Amino acid sequence: MKAVTIDKEKCNLCLVCVETSAGCFMKNDDSIEVLADDFTCVLCGHCVAACPVNAITHNIMDMSNFPEITGDGKLSTGDLLRHMRERRSHRAFLDKQVPKKDLEKLAEAVRYSPTGHNEQTVELVIIQNPERRKKLSNLGVDFYAGVADEAEKGLEEMKASGKAAPEQILESERTTGFLRMLAGARDAGLDPLLYDAPAVFIFHSTAKAVTASENCVIAAANAGMLARTMGLETTFVALFASAANTYPPLTGELGLPEGNKVYAVLVVGYPKIRYLRAVDRKQVSVRWE
Ligand SMILES: Cc1cc2nc3c(=O)[nH]c(=O)nc-3n(C[C@H](O)[C@H](O)[C@H](O)COP(=O)(O)O)c2cc1C
Repeated sequence: MKAVTIDKEKCNLCLVCVETSAGCFMKNDDSIEVLADDFTCVLCGHCVAACPVNAITHNIMDMSNFPEITGDGKLSTGDLLRHMRERRSHRAFLDKQVPKKDLEKLAEAVRYSPTGHNEQTVELVIIQNPERRKKLSNLGVDFYAGVADEAEKGLEEMKASGKAAPEQILESERTTGFLRMLAGARDAGLDPLLYDAPAVFIFHSTAKAVTASENCVIAAANAGMLARTMGLETTFVALFASAANTYPPLTGELGLPEGNKVYAVLVVGYPKIRYLRAVDRKQVSVRWE
């Protein structure tokens, strides 16, 4: 089946469809030939979105979900850059539920984020239930407590061997200390992984997707930026993502579809702390060519 149908009465041979696509169309003498079929079309929808005379009907995509773009669609560069610069990772949240409609908007940001080959592989688990969040976080901390035990053993062996360089020992002490801190924080009644956040977004994807990780991370970054427009703040939690993919009790508890992995985790909530200043960062190293 051809992926799209072109209404020859409406088509004005402007070639926009040819130019927006990667070889999906070919210009013949007096018509456009559709080459893409239901197997090769990546469902990007660019041809439908750009056709100035509405001549293209996609035969697979939902034609009722191509809303017209009105206005110039521009945000001010200064405002958007400031929005990005003032984003901070937040780890303390108000004890206040986020309305489901706002979480749904974040899920919408995920839906419309770009993915490699337009594979749209990103899936979400959104956790709002505090008991569930606590259970998952506890399993994550259990995992790191075990890793700390192993790291400590390794450190002792390293020291006893007398062969390790001082920097190696220092690095190992730093890692062990950090891992120990997580369990210590839990003992003190804190949630050092998911920060008692009212909502936790787990971004997962089939590991078969060539850009599985990028798909999830881009979606998470976009959701995090959108969250700020609703008074919400976020933090990426790679520590939880690694534990979820590595520690069988946590992997089992999460119960993702077979073959899926966690590639990003965002904690989301109303911030307890208001930052009064943006922060300094290293200059980006750029090689201009
Ligand atoms: C990919 C990624 C993974 C991160 N993982 C964690 C994490 O596991 N736990 C945590 O508390 N913060 C985590 N962070 C937050 C970083 O520590 C934070 O972005 C960094 O310190 C800079 O602070 P800023 O986000 O406020 O600019 C992560 C950030 C990124 C981008």
